[in-house]
Amino acid sequence: MTETGKVYLVGAGPGDPDLLTIKAHKLFDQVDVVVYDRLVSDEIMNLVPAGTSCISVGKQPRFHPVPQEQINDILVSLAAEGQRVMRLKGGDPFLFGRGSEEAAYLHANNIPFEVIPGVTSASACAAAVGLPLTHRGYATGARFITGHCSDDNDLDWDWKGLSDPNTTLVVYMGVANLIQICTRLTENGLAESTPVAAINNGTRPDQRCLISSLGAITGDVAKCNFSGPVLFVIGRVVELTKALGFEHERISGDLVEERESA
Ligand SMILES: C[S@@+](CC[C@H](N)C(=O)[O-])C[C@H]1O[C@@H](n2cnc3c(N)ncnc32)[C@H](O)[C@@H]1O
Repeated sequence: MTETGKVYLVGAGPGDPDLLTIKAHKLFDQVDVVVYDRLVSDEIMNLVPAGTSCISVGKQPRFHPVPQEQINDILVSLAAEGQRVMRLKGGDPFLFGRGSEEAAYLHANNIPFEVIPGVTSASACAAAVGLPLTHRGYATGARFITGHCSDDNDLDWDWKGLSDPNTTLVVYMGVANLIQICTRLTENGLAESTPVAAINNGTRPDQRCLISSLGAITGDVAKCNFSGPVLFVIGRVVELTKALGFEHERISGDLVEERESA
């Protein structure tokens, strides 16, 4: 009888190969097959040794070439054949990465698995653009939310609780519902002047960062022609990028100076 293999649910980080963990990097030499997502950068895939099979199950927003159920089955059948499988995902596998759904399915099918964390895009992208997610006097905490829900319905989040000027809000997958997100936050009391950063392709060679405000970000993003993943950071901490010596794209003027002179 074939001995069951093992699945490693691995975070690849935000794209910069230097932000891959040493543990993940070492594992490339120990697995038979890598099953990877669209957000895993080419530079990271280039680190996979020649001879290791690679299966792309990449998803585009609102378009899933390989449905999640099928990805789950691929992992189970490869491991059942005795293979050591690396399931490689962008960022951290347990943060908006469906890694926990895959882990639950593996567990239900008696497949051994291990989770190897990755640097999530919130911390990596924020650091790359000189944006501290918390800072004394600016934000006492940070919240990570998804801007997307599976059935394409309205985002049924606790908007009152999220509209807190003392907490940084990080929005993953927020482009498609940006108007709704900004409207709900302002309806619930967050000022339209609240600074917003839109970080596109964070930590990658084509990284961009647009600084705007809650009232203007939707129009500004529409003018930017971003391609690739975008992460939104909303809150007063965004003002600090300038104090830390970082210059970014601005379409609607300088928020800090505008506010100070108002
Ligand atoms: C399906 S979620 C995966 C998140 C991932 N598990 C993590 O921990 O970063 C995809 C979203 O992550 C964000 N994202 C991931 N990598 C990014 C990058 N390099 N630059 C900007 N945003 C990124 C974007 O908001 C994107 O829509």
